[in-house]
Amino acid sequence: MSLFIKKPLAQLLAQAADSGHALKRTLGAANLVALGVGAIIGAGLFVRTAAAAGQAAGPSVVISFIVAAIGCAFAGLCYAEFAAMIPVAGSAYTYAYVTLGEVVAWAIGWSLILEYALGAATVAISWSQYLNNLFGGSIPFEWCHSPMEISATGVHGIINLPALAILTLITLILIKGTQESAIFNAIIVAIKVTIVLVFIAVGWQFINPTNYVPFFIPPDAPDVTASNGMVQSYAPFFNHGWGGMLRGASIVFFAFIGFDAVSTAAQETKNPKRDMPIGILGSLAVCTVLYILFSHVLTGVAPYTDFIKEGKEASVSYAIQHYMIGYGWLAPLVSASILIGFSAVILAMLYGQSRVFFSMSNDGLIPKIFSDLHSKFRTPYKSNIILLIFTASIAGFVPENLTGDLTSVGTLFAFVLVCVGVWVMRKTDPKTERPFRTPWVPLVPILGVIVCTILIVSLDHITQIVATVWLCIGLMIYFTYSKKNSNLRNLK
Ligand code: ALA
Repeated sequence: MSLFIKKPLAQLLAQAADSGHALKRTLGAANLVALGVGAIIGAGLFVRTAAAAGQAAGPSVVISFIVAAIGCAFAGLCYAEFAAMIPVAGSAYTYAYVTLGEVVAWAIGWSLILEYALGAATVAISWSQYLNNLFGGSIPFEWCHSPMEISATGVHGIINLPALAILTLITLILIKGTQESAIFNAIIVAIKVTIVLVFIAVGWQFINPTNYVPFFIPPDAPDVTASNGMVQSYAPFFNHGWGGMLRGASIVFFAFIGFDAVSTAAQETKNPKRDMPIGILGSLAVCTVLYILFSHVLTGVAPYTDFIKEGKEASVSYAIQHYMIGYGWLAPLVSASILIGFSAVILAMLYGQSRVFFSMSNDGLIPKIFSDLHSKFRTPYKSNIILLIFTASIAGFVPENLTGDLTSVGTLFAFVLVCVGVWVMRKTDPKTERPFRTPWVPLVPILGVIVCTILIVSLDHITQIVATVWLCIGLMIYFTYSKKNSNLRNLK
């Protein structure tokens, strides 16, 4: 039987209605935009912006955000068509099962683990940085860093305990239920947007125009030595100039991840056909405007080289403390708000991941334990607990740079396949009702594929190699377990 066996759309929709396994439909359009913004604004903005500026893009990180937003907009338009047409949990994984076949769906589902689970781990690690900043750096280095990190005084990290703590707390909230989670999320989104606006408004007065010159990092920019002795060179192609801007785009791409998490909530949405496109595109638009302004202010306030040195961690609070004279009191407020904001992102990521597992498990591609619902809360609690173990073992022992870039690559790969899927389905299934149609097909999907592929290529080699190994492991599992247990195959 073909590896590219496809799930019939009618069967998928019927399965969604199956009351035995149905999730409760409680979310409206506003909840979805809140879920989107809650998932989107997070470590990408408050941590990865500085990393992108310091490592590769300099002040041109503003353009990096625009490039990343363009890629996301193309992919977002494709996501919206699928999300409205196939309003069931599972996101890109489910769409691929209908359009491109089982093995591709598996590859996407497997990549989405990089996106959601590693994304949650990355934000948890960033959460730990801001907690430490809030406590004036008093958490001992070894207890809030991975063993792969070393301090300026030569102390090695052991485990990132704050990251583990926040992952555990959010998992408990998720197990209790989606309705409560959505309300919690809406309050947090308001706090998060406020803090971004305050930083932009206050920081604007402290912009030093000389920090924008040169706008792109020059190829002969001197190396920067971090306080722990690590040396940052700008000589490689993707570390300066336009190449650096592109690598910056692939780093800050992380900041946009999450709008697609909206689509994983389709099965819990009251009117998915109308609300899904609003949720996806609306949250993307709001965030893009904020990001452009924010990154302009951050790189105007502090020189980009600071973000390799003492401004590497909790960079926003650092910029306030060191450059916004008279506003030092704002730093702890910002750090505290960021901590709350990051919690919402972790919630959305873990939520999205458990729903993808839910779908894959219902399809027999992963064990049934991932779709067992709690008898009272109706949430996939066992899946949540397994996910906690996985994310905690990453967040506790791996640095944020590595997990962040892996998150980006997994997501970009899923985006490419979603863009291809929309085009394929227009050809293979032109008559199916599409409440939302991606404009200018195939141009938009093709541009989506091109931009996302450029961003994958711009990431560093280690990330690309680890992602390829991850995909190979996934395919081995597919051929040894999933293919044999696939419900679709066993029905035939
Ligand atoms: N977009 C999310 C963040 O920036 C994943 O934290």
